[in-house]
Amino acid sequence: MKHAMFSKEQNRPKLRAAFIASLLICIFVADTVTNFEIAFAVFYIAVILIAIGFLSTRGVVVLASICIGLTVLSLFLTRRGSFEAGLFNCGISTCAIGITTYLALKTVAAQAAVYDAQEQFARMARLTRLGELTASIAHEVNQPLAGMATSADACRRWLDHAPPNLERARLAAERIVSDAKRASDVIVRVRRLAKSEPPHQERFDLNEAAAEAVGMAEHEIERNSVSLQMNLAEDLPSVMADKIQIQQVISNLLLNAIEAMTGVPSFKRELAVSSSRDDEGRVVFAVADSGSGMKQTTIDHLFEAFWTTKESGMGIGLTISRSIIEAHGGRISVTSAPRMGTIVQFSLPAAEENET
Ligand SMILES: Nc1ncnc2c1ncn2[C@@H]1O[C@H](COP(=O)(O)OP(=O)(O)OP(=O)(O)O)[C@@H](O)[C@H]1O
Ligand SMILES: [Mg+2]
Repeated sequence: MKHAMFSKEQNRPKLRAAFIASLLICIFVADTVTNFEIAFAVFYIAVILIAIGFLSTRGVVVLASICIGLTVLSLFLTRRGSFEAGLFNCGISTCAIGITTYLALKTVAAQAAVYDAQEQFARMARLTRLGELTASIAHEVNQPLAGMATSADACRRWLDHAPPNLERARLAAERIVSDAKRASDVIVRVRRLAKSEPPHQERFDLNEAAAEAVGMAEHEIERNSVSLQMNLAEDLPSVMADKIQIQQVISNLLLNAIEAMTGVPSFKRELAVSSSRDDEGRVVFAVADSGSGMKQTTIDHLFEAFWTTKESGMGIGLTISRSIIEAHGGRISVTSAPRMGTIVQFSLPAAEENET
């Protein structure tokens, strides 16, 4: 079967050449045996338009020259009618063949340019997607990597202690292992997100997930002398979501809040983390800070990719966070005013009773 298809493909150029040649012969014969007054030669145009689909530019030019040659040859071989009319028709047919060839070749060249541009566009889009994916991974693994560096440092110090504190060193090593696992989990999640795959779903308690995410940011909270308040609702229903992704969102919001407070005196740095239920029964999680706050013009750009006001920021933390929340059928919103601090909150649908 494969062999038959192969030989069919191989024969196709020969078949096409035979078809073109027979058309040329038919038109030539008809043009020669009919009167000078009948301009049969204009049908060569049809041959050129057929051939343009599979011949190269050179091939089409050669074919057009053959058509013109045959038109002139017919003029001398035709015996019936007025030679003057024949000469006139020959001139018209020759011009028509020439102009058609020129226009057809120009159209094909324009089409090729469009295909090239489309291909280049597709390549650029792939590169942009790759760039966004790389930036997202770099952004999201930053925190576990920083955690690993801190724990590795602590581990070394406990080992250098005289006498070495092996228990503390072991705990630090365990933190390194769990951060490394987290980094690889995060990479899997970001890749899924980039491929627009639906999030992995598991039933979990948002309060517990939030407490873990706050724990991961503890080092940053302490380092920046931020005072933390947790107001987590007790009777909160579970959510069905990708826990790692939701923790990524919480980490991004916490980090933004901490960074927004670097410009205010340390005794005014207040971070409040809260959870609640809204009127529609959704689970709401909010991060409030007493930082710089934002103007409305800043708020308008917040979720745009690569939009940042920070020197070392990538401007994708909130873009990723919104993608994650929306992929879970949730919403994310910001309330802020200059010097009044910011509240970023998201809501997620509560898990149904029978969902597992
Ligand atoms: N809590 C906040 N208070 C004040 N401004 C904020 C807050 N959160 C975000 N912003 C503003 O929104 C911008 C975008 O935030 P986003 O998290 O997307 O990127 P980033 O923090 O600048 O960089 P990165 O991608 O590294 O997180 C920030 O540069 C900042 O101007
Ligand atoms: Mg950020």
